[in-house]
Amino acid sequence: MELNIALLKGDGIGPEIVDSAVAVLEKTAAKFGHKFNFTPYLIGGCAIDETGLPLPQETVDGCLASDSVLLGAVGGPKWDGLAGDIRPEKALLGIRSAMGLYTNLRPAKLYPALRGASPLKDEIVGGGFDILIVRELTGGIYFGDRGYREGKYGTEAFDTEAYSVTEIERIGKAAFEAAMKRGKRLCSVDKANVLESSRLWRKTMHEMAESYPEVEYRDMFVDNAAMQLVRDPKQFDVIVTSNMFGDILSDEASQITGSIGMLASASLGASKRGLYEPIHGSAPDIAGTNAANPIATILSGAMMLRYSFGLAKEADTIEAAVDKALNDGHRTADLMGTDKGKPLTCTEMTEVILKNI
Ligand code: IPM
Ligand code: MG
Repeated sequence: MELNIALLKGDGIGPEIVDSAVAVLEKTAAKFGHKFNFTPYLIGGCAIDETGLPLPQETVDGCLASDSVLLGAVGGPKWDGLAGDIRPEKALLGIRSAMGLYTNLRPAKLYPALRGASPLKDEIVGGGFDILIVRELTGGIYFGDRGYREGKYGTEAFDTEAYSVTEIERIGKAAFEAAMKRGKRLCSVDKANVLESSRLWRKTMHEMAESYPEVEYRDMFVDNAAMQLVRDPKQFDVIVTSNMFGDILSDEASQITGSIGMLASASLGASKRGLYEPIHGSAPDIAGTNAANPIATILSGAMMLRYSFGLAKEADTIEAAVDKALNDGHRTADLMGTDKGKPLTCTEMTEVILKNI
């Protein structure tokens, strides 16, 4: 297959980790007789520096013309003082929305080899856990009405959480279908004891659950879900939730796996074209030091092969190469836990994974 991949390297460690993933994708393509063409576009702080805008139109057009998009990370202290509308993060929301990517899949699984890096006790993680968070990505408070107005205590700022049945149904469908392909257990997380939008969310999910009798469905309030994730993560298979709750719970889920540097994500819409990115940020503190863990981005590349291109064997090959690197004891700094010794650099870890392909 010949496929065109847009690269949005972004800021901080973004360029280092995307370069690692590209090397892995190229080696995989060569092994299986495919050709991947990579075209870089600007996004985030680097785009602001060069064009004045975090998401130039050329980037949007390039992504929409590609077969899929691989993104590193955006943002950094240099651009933190900018107004909300021209912050690097705005580009991320903008590209998700422009590409219609309403489904965000964030798998959080504990690698047996990294058990020691998880902050949870052995008796809690036991035989490991494997959770898929399905986060709604183009609605809710991230995209609702916002602004300033006069309130009871003077000028106030506001943001609005709103969800339509259509938006809930399409993310619900993605979650139920993901559950059917996995452990057939779905937990919908909301705050229906307080929020009207959550009550509509819950009602809609209940109606959908009737069409998926094989899926063991339940609801959970978000505060309880935050607690249950650290109390007993094994109870979860698939979690479906809103944009904001998914943002928060996926960081929590990533931390209990041992390192946020391990977690990949896929953002999908109605077409096969997706956007794939690590769930961690641009880590400005270690940018340029070659200390970043490239695995989350490499695994994001594997998800692209699987979900956008239907190349399951190729994706398996990359995932197995990462497993082997970890099982052989290779660790970047973030994965050291209590291990002694010298951690691998980003390029060294990439080399190890490349050798396993
Ligand atoms: C994420 C990030 C983004 C989000 C930020 C950077 C806008 O935290 O992808 O989880 O909140 O969606
Ligand atoms: Mg986040």
